Order: sequence, then structure tokens, then C-alpha cells
Amino acid sequence: MDEIIKLENIEKHFGSVYANKDINLTIKRGDVHSIVGENGAGKSTLMNILYGMIRPDSGSIYYDGEKIEIKSPHDAIARGIGMVHQHFMLVPSFTVMENIVLGLPPRGEKIWRPENFRPEITKIMEDFGLEVDLNAKIQDISVGIKQRVEILKILYRGAKVIILDEPTAILTPQETQELFSTIRLLIKNDHTVIFISHKLKEVMEISDKISALRDGVLVNTVNRDDVTAKDVAYMMIGRELEPLQKTLEDGEKEVSLKITDLKAANDGHVAIEDISFCLHKGEVVGVAGVEGNGQSTLVDAIVGAQGTGGGTIVFEGEDITGCSIAERMQKGIAHIPEDRMTEGLALPLSAEKNLILGIHNKEPIKRRGRLNWKEAEKISEELIKSYSVKIKSRKEAVANLSGGNMQKIVVARELNREPKIVVACQPTRGVDIGSSKYIRECLLDVKKKGGSVLLVSADLDEILELSDRIVVMYDGKISGVLDAREATEERLGELMFGRG
Ligand SMILES: Nc1ncnc2c1ncn2[C@@H]1O[C@H](COP(=O)(O)OP(=O)(O)OP(=O)(O)O)[C@@H](O)[C@H]1O
Ligand SMILES: [Mg+2]
Repeated sequence: MDEIIKLENIEKHFGSVYANKDINLTIKRGDVHSIVGENGAGKSTLMNILYGMIRPDSGSIYYDGEKIEIKSPHDAIARGIGMVHQHFMLVPSFTVMENIVLGLPPRGEKIWRPENFRPEITKIMEDFGLEVDLNAKIQDISVGIKQRVEILKILYRGAKVIILDEPTAILTPQETQELFSTIRLLIKNDHTVIFISHKLKEVMEISDKISALRDGVLVNTVNRDDVTAKDVAYMMIGRELEPLQKTLEDGEKEVSLKITDLKAANDGHVAIEDISFCLHKGEVVGVAGVEGNGQSTLVDAIVGAQGTGGGTIVFEGEDITGCSIAERMQKGIAHIPEDRMTEGLALPLSAEKNLILGIHNKEPIKRRGRLNWKEAEKISEELIKSYSVKIKSRKEAVANLSGGNMQKIVVARELNREPKIVVACQPTRGVDIGSSKYIRECLLDVKKKGGSVLLVSADLDEILELSDRIVVMYDGKISGVLDAREATEERLGELMFGRG
């Protein structure tokens, strides 16, 4: 049988929102089949239905030609369907091994120990290029490695169809290539992969087939070889996207933030040392580097999330090295954090409350000691509209939003404060191409208005597209600073690997 999965007339609505409308989709055995679409188009919902996390309102699922009922992930796994979610589901305090075998039934051995499974897990690791330290605790490993654990976990349970929901959003370009090697090995070994991504370059690289969803409707399925990246973008958003316009200005500019000989420890991880650079008014400075070379420590030190071990941070002439997070925020430093789920959002609260967080204690939202809800409504409605956040109403809990739409809420809130400095970490992670462009324009707008942006991104294209200057970090130090005009991917690559 050529087709391994067939979805027939799948429908799912949440209240008045149709997440999936009459979807008919066939997945061929041995294909890498990509699903693309804007934030909130219904990709995760459709995959959650296939994986048994969500029950559809109607429609049928066929596996190998046989109609099946998938009532839970347990049913899906029993059929050979496994999924790695957009947001991970591992137990932080357990080891990798414990997480992989969690919930597996005993297999007749006298004593059930996670150790019993080691030889088989090691074999899968080797077969598919998924090297992990099985004894490490989840809380101590990087996101890229956590993802490997998730893949190992479903492979160990016998998954033949692997659903990867935006796996590369959290990966560096290098880790993405490693994941692609794994995907190729999976395909070679008779597996099928369903791949979701907003990055068209990747979709064009890895897919055999591409399906686009728009507002819950399956617009089209095409062979990768028959289309260009532009065609795929068009399928997704129904219009062409013009490239971003950046203007580089010459001449001396006023210093906004001056960092001198900054030193900070990162409890055992990558410490930073000898960090000195300036951020000028009207400038975007990109921070490039392979993840784990001190970027997060630098950001934490600048926004005040961690102490420093030497050096100074001077903002508009004032030494803020000892100031708290809140004080720095009051002075005009905004922070778009890397991890929206743990740092950026209050998930159970409404979009409206999340959007006014930080300005709720100021005019015009706070008036005569009370919260002015009319004003909160106005501001949050405006932000939802300008950032095209897909949401039923501003009262909806942020937890119910699609991944990319959560990210838009964080960015909208931070930029709305009209900060003097924006420390933007992976600002467009998980955001669709149309909204990514909007967010990038907003960052360029900060610069146009005389503010400054420190852009930390794993996406080199994004760094090159927005920055006036690029600071490259390697092993906790600055390995080079490039002017945008002289920066090429090759030159950045050399500095990123300490071969300056
Ligand atoms: N549990 C839920 N309750 C209410 N609405 C929901 C729920 N889950 C999803 N939705 C809505 O269904 C729509 C589709 O969401 P889904 O997560 O499938 O989008 P997506 O295509 O995966 O987007 P992204 O690219 O941002 O991840 C969105 O409008 C979303 O807000
Ligand atoms: Mg999604």
C-alpha cells in the first residue's frame, strides 16, 4: 500500500473558530511531507488529531488502508504514529533514560529498572544519529538534545510515522542539519515523516511533498520538485511578500548602552568575560554565535536577570550595573525573552492582561489609582489587530493560542512600551513569514525612531537582514565585530567557530 495515512473530511472547531475544515490529506509511505501555513492555520490541531491528543468533530483516519479510531496518543503509538510537540513534554527532574522508558510496561524481567532498556535505546541512538547522554537529567540538557530525547522516546515505542511540529524553531542551523540527517536515516529505514516549519528554505530542502493550510482549510498539496519557495509562500498566504527594506546610516551616533569589560558567571555553564561594546541610538546590533557561547548570559546580565562579576553597564550615561530588572524596565529597556512559555507570558491569563503587563501601573491604563479597563481594551485591541494575532477575543487565555500567536503577544507588549532599547532574543521564532516580516519592520522602526535594538538570533539570515553591526560570540568572549556591509555568512561562520 502506497499511502500510509489518509485523513478524510476532518473537522474541528473551538467555539466559533474553525481550526480544521473538511480536510482531506494523504501521506505517502517513505515521504517527508511538510505542512505549512500561517500562525493559527490549524497545523498543530490537525497533527494533534492524528496523534489522538484532540478528538475531531467529524471525519475519518485510515492507516495502511484500514479505517482506525485514535482516541488517545496511546492508540496512535500502538499504530506506529509518534509526535514530537512544539512545546516539549518531558519531566525535568528525571534522567533521559527515565523519560524514555516512563510508562512502559514490564517485559517479564524480575526487577523493572530503566537500565534494562539501555542496549536497545543505544542501538536506536546509533542507527539514527541521535546521540544523547542517557544519564543526564532533562533539566541540565539543551533544547536541541531534549528534542532528540523526544524522538528517541517515540522511536523506542515503535513509531513508523513521525510527526515533527516545528522541530527546527528551537534549533541552530547546525542542529537543524543534524536533525535533517536523522530524518534522512529515518526515511531510508522505512519511516515516514510529517514536518512542520515556517522556514521555507528548510521546507524546500527536506520535503518530498508540501501541503499548505490556510484558515483551517487545506489549500493545496504539491511535489517539492514542481515548485519554488516563492510558490510555497504564495500557497500559504495568498499574496507575495516584498523583501524588507533596511537603510544603513553613516556618521557618528550617540551611545545608548556602553558595556565595558563585562564578566558574568552562569552557574557552571558558559561564563562571559572581557565583553565590551556599544549600542548606539538608531542602531540594530546583531549578536551571532552558536548557541551556548555566552549569548544568554550576556542578555541576562544586560536585562538584570543575573548579577555580574565585574565590568560596567552604562545606559544613557548612568551606571545601571546594580539595578534590578524592574528598574531597568522603568528606564526603558525592553526584553523579548527566548522562552515565551516560561519567561514571556502568564499563560492562564487573557491576551489583554498579558498585553498590558508592565504598563498596567502607568497612565493611561492606571488612572486615579484604578485600572482603566476601557483603555486596556483599546490598547489590546489595537495590538491584536496590528500584529494580526489570531484569537477569538482579547479575553481568551494565552494558553489557547497557537505557538506563533503567543510569540506575537510577547513582541507586541514589549515594543508597545516604546522602549529606548529592545533586547530581542529569537523574536520571530515560530512566527509565520508574514508576521515575521511585520515584527522585523517593527524592530527597524525602533531604530528609525532613535532607539536601539540588540538582536540575538540563531537565524543568520535574520541577523544579516536587520543589523547595522554584528557582534560575534565564541566561548564567552567576543570573537569579532563586523559592519553589516562587510558581513557575509562565511565570515560570520569563521568567527562563530573561533577561527577569526
Ligand atoms: N485548546 C484550544 N482552545 C481554543 N482554541 C484553540 C485551541 N487550540 C487551538 N485553538 C485555535 O485553533 C486555531 C488553530 O491553531 P493551531 O495551533 O492548530 O495553529 P498552527 O497552524 O499550529 O499555528 P502555529 O504556526 O502558530 O503553531 C487557532 O486559531 C487557535 O487559537
Ligand atoms: Mg502550531
